[in-house]
Formats: sequence, C-alpha cells, structure tokens
Amino acid sequence: MRKTKGIILAGGAGTRMYPMTQLYSKQLISVYDKPMIYYPMSTLILSGIKEVLIISNKETIPYYEKLFKDGSHLGMKIEYAVQDAPKGIAEAFIIGEEFIGDDQVCLILGDNIFYGYLNFVRDAINNNNGATVFGYYVKDPKRYGVVEFDDNGKAISIEEKPEKPRSKYAVPGLYVFDSTSPERSRNITPSARGEVEITDLIRSYLIEDDLKVARIGRGIAWLDSGTPESLLDASTFIASIEQRQGLKIGCIEEAAYQMRFIDEEGMKKIIYDLPESYYRDYLKGLLKI
Ligand code: DAU
Repeated sequence: MRKTKGIILAGGAGTRMYPMTQLYSKQLISVYDKPMIYYPMSTLILSGIKEVLIISNKETIPYYEKLFKDGSHLGMKIEYAVQDAPKGIAEAFIIGEEFIGDDQVCLILGDNIFYGYLNFVRDAINNNNGATVFGYYVKDPKRYGVVEFDDNGKAISIEEKPEKPRSKYAVPGLYVFDSTSPERSRNITPSARGEVEITDLIRSYLIEDDLKVARIGRGIAWLDSGTPESLLDASTFIASIEQRQGLKIGCIEEAAYQMRFIDEEGMKKIIYDLPESYYRDYLKGLLKI
C-alpha cells in the first residue's frame, strides 16, 4: 500500500446549519449515534491511512483535540491545523503543505459519509498518478461538482454547481492527490465567491491528462449531511442499518482494530477508558468480553 496521508476538512461557515453551528462547526453534530466526523475518519482508517490532519476553525479545533487526541490510542498520528476563514476546499492543501511533504494525500470533507465496500478508495490510493476523483450518479447534480465523460468513459469536463449539468455524475468530497497539490492550489485564482475551488484544482490535473475519474457503483451509499434535511436523512439511514444488523457504521475504534492499527490489548485499553455506555458495550462485544 502506498504511503498516503489523510486530511479531513471540517470547518466552514455553517450558515446552512445555524443555529446548530453557533458553538462549533457542523462536523461535531451527531449523525444518529456519533459525531459526524467519525464517519469520514473511519473511511480514512478503513482505507489504511494512519496519519491524518484535521483542519477547522479555531473555535472547533479544541473539541476535535479532545475527541481524537494525538491518535496514538488508535494506532494513528492525528494533527490539527486552523483555517482562519472558509476560503475554499483547496486551501486545505496550502494549510497542509508541510504535513503532506512528498507523500500523496487523500482529502475527505467532514460532512461526507460513505457506506459500503470501500475497495474503490483503496484502489484509487494504490493506482493514483496525479489525481483521482470519483463520479457518483445522483438525481440532482446541480448541488455538486459535476463531471462529464466522453463515449469512451474518459472525463472531459468538471464544473462546480453548474446551472445546466452536463451529466448526472456528482463528484463526492473524497479525493486523492499527489504531492504537487499544495503548489497547484497556491496558483489558483480564487473564484467570484472568494474561494480556492476544489474543481479548479481537479481541472488543473484534467488539462494535463493526469486525472482519473473512477465511477462509484450504486452499491455504495454516499450521503452528505450539510443541510438539516440531509442530516436527518443520513441519521435515518445509519439508524436503519445499525438497528437491523446490530453493527455500527463509522465506529473509529472498531475500524482501527479491524485494520490492525491496534491489537486486542490496545482495544481493551480504549474500552477501559470509556464511560459506561452502549458504545462501550458494543466495543466489548467485539472482543467478546
Ligand atoms: O459534498 C461534495 C461537494 O462538496 C462537491 O461535489 C463539490 O465540488 C465541493 O465544492 C463541495 O461542495 P459543498 O457545497 O458541499 O461545499 P461546502 O462549501 O459546503 O464545503 C464542504 C465542506 O467543507 C463543509 O463541511 C465545510 C467544509 N469547508 C468548506 C470550505 C469552503 C471548510 O472547512 N472550509 C472551507 O473553506
């Protein structure tokens, strides 16, 4: 597996979620039974990523530090960085330049939830040259970055929230980039809304023929939880599956254990440090103790 670092972008203005976002950014709000950020964190863990940088505003960073500490209990290394104002998704690479160094990087937005067989992320990580992004068929692509394919399935255009989408394929908030991403992001002129746009960064790879767009099949659920309605939908979805299976989605400790970031002793230590709760009982159940 190629060395890949992870970034979770978890700040933003929170305007669509006000008043829930008065105290901290929305990625701390619960999706069913756990904080939203647990889901993208577990996606990174299940993709084999051990080093993660969390970027958010200065009010919220202390809460994330409380949640994840330095990550060592999970067999990880977790760092934190402040974004002064929400000046665009691609700014994550400028803020994370030193963290990224010479490695490739997987960026996930803190409000994106993936459920299903995550092989598509691992494949992207292992086969990436330049950049790899995904295409996911949706009913209403207007709300997203939209990618267009030619008859041979090759990506030919990418646009941010187009009025007239050229396809039904939205680009989810999960991307793999090589170590040139910080320099490219620094060279992007901010858009009319003042943001360093992620679609402009992706387009810089597309025009150099260095972009892969992998279509994610309908067997994967991709949910975003950026509005009260989509938050409720995501909670209902997670609740239905968890209640049916008795297994959790987005359980970071379980993911770290499954990926062998920690062994049974490490898991026991986590369990003993947790307060009495259903969540603790669940983790105990995994070890049959
Ligand atoms: O969810 C996938 C979509 O995410 C992509 O299809 C779009 O191409 C991409 O631009 C983005 O669209 P959104 O409308 O969801 O972007 P939003 O500005 O809401 O930001 C996404 C998340 O990133 C959100 O949780 C807040 C956080 N964020 C955003 C910006 C611009 C930051 O932490 N800092 C920022 O500067």
